[in-house]
Parts: sequence; structure tokens; C-alpha cells
Amino acid sequence: MAKDVIIACDFSSAEDTFRFLDRFTEEKPFLKIGMELFYAEGPSIVREIKRRGHKIFLDLKLHDIPNTVKKAMSVLRNLDVDMTNVHAAGTIDMMRAALEGLTRPDGTRPLLIAVTQLTSTSEERMQRELLINAPINDTIVRYAENTREAGLDGVVCSPLEAGMVKAACGSGFMTVTPGVRFADGDKGDQVRITTPARAAEIGTDYIVVGRPITEAPDPVAAYRRCMSEFLGR
Ligand code: C5P
Repeated sequence: MAKDVIIACDFSSAEDTFRFLDRFTEEKPFLKIGMELFYAEGPSIVREIKRRGHKIFLDLKLHDIPNTVKKAMSVLRNLDVDMTNVHAAGTIDMMRAALEGLTRPDGTRPLLIAVTQLTSTSEERMQRELLINAPINDTIVRYAENTREAGLDGVVCSPLEAGMVKAACGSGFMTVTPGVRFADGDKGDQVRITTPARAAEIGTDYIVVGRPITEAPDPVAAYRRCMSEFLGR
């Protein structure tokens, strides 16, 4: 399976995004476009970044009734992104509908992954507010199993959960993990973090890295360091 570093392009405008991307004269990093940039700039930002030759993970985390998600995915499939996602909490039926909507008439489709539990959700709040009376790790594994049953390619999870997901769903089931920091870097608001090298040891497939690269004095050097620590080359 392809392993790669995905840069989280958490910018609020096309201008800031392209100012950042213009620094990369040799590499074409895999990029994550989230809600902020997509809602600010619309589909044109995706087309323009594709035109520049980058792979894109469109992180919109769809969660609605199956028919609505299916129709939304059939619009997104025309954007030609490489990966997109839904919330596993939308149920197996919703994930199956997402997959159907995302599949083009010729049978091709972007990778589709699901968010298990957001890392901002604590076990205590999940139990008290959502009335889910189970250990949070059990819900993560169950959501991952549901995702696999629906036929999706993998899940977004914390790097510290990737091993448990692989154990339950098989090594071919993809894990995409944010919460990555350099050993000597600033944690920011991330709590459950790991280094690129440790994420590689745990066996995650893609790491999503934002501020350690986007806010580095030299983002290209930070990206190269991340690639070399994660891919071991
Ligand atoms: O800047 P940082 O490296 O923390 O960025 C990580 C990216 O991954 C952000 O875009 C953040 O929204 C996203 N993310 C996360 N934790 C999750 C899901 C997504 O940090 N559980």
C-alpha cells in the first residue's frame, strides 16, 4: 500500500494556499483540503490544485441520510480528488450509499475513508452526552469494522489507534492519521500525538501533518524531514 505524508492545507483563502504551495518547486506533496478552504473558495480551489499536479484528500466528513450523501458524493466524484471521507456514525447504509455515489460510471472512484471517533471527543463526554455506554476504544474498533463491512478503504484515526484498527480489520485496511509532531516540536492543541517515525512503526499508511509544516520557518525543509522520518529514506 502507498505510504505518504499529507499536508493539511488549513488556510482560509486561495491566495494563502497558493503562496504556500509556490514554495514547493521540486515536490508535489499530497494535500488535504478541509471545510474551511472548500467553503471559502468552492470547487474551483480543488480543480486548480489538481491542475498543478497535487493529489488531494478532500476532508468534508459527510454525515446525513444515505440518499443525500449518495447525491453529494456523485457531485464530488467529478472533482477528481484522490481521497474523501464520511463519518462512520452515519451507519453502514450511509457508507454504502456514499460508496455508490462516489463510483463513476466506468467503475473508478477516489479512496473513501470514514472518521471513527473524532479525537476531540473524550470517553467521558461520549458516554455522558451521547449515551454510548462503552469504552471509546471499543467504539473506534466497531466503527472501523462497520466501515470495512460497508466496503470502504479505511478510517481516519489517531496514530495511537492505528495498530488496534489494523489488528481488527486487517493490515490492508487503510489508516490515515493526524496528530503527528516532530520530537522537538510544539504540540499545539493536539493531545494524543506521535512522531512521524513512531507512526511508521505503528504501521499507519498516511500521516496528515498541518502546522509542523505550514507554520515552519522553512516549510519545504519541514516536509522533507517529515517524509524522511516517516518513509525512512
Ligand atoms: O496542524 P495539525 O498537524 O494539528 O493538523 C492536523 C489536521 O488533521 C487538521 O486539519 C485537523 O483538523 C485534522 N484532524 C485532526 N484530528 C482528527 C481529525 C482531523 O487533527 N481526529
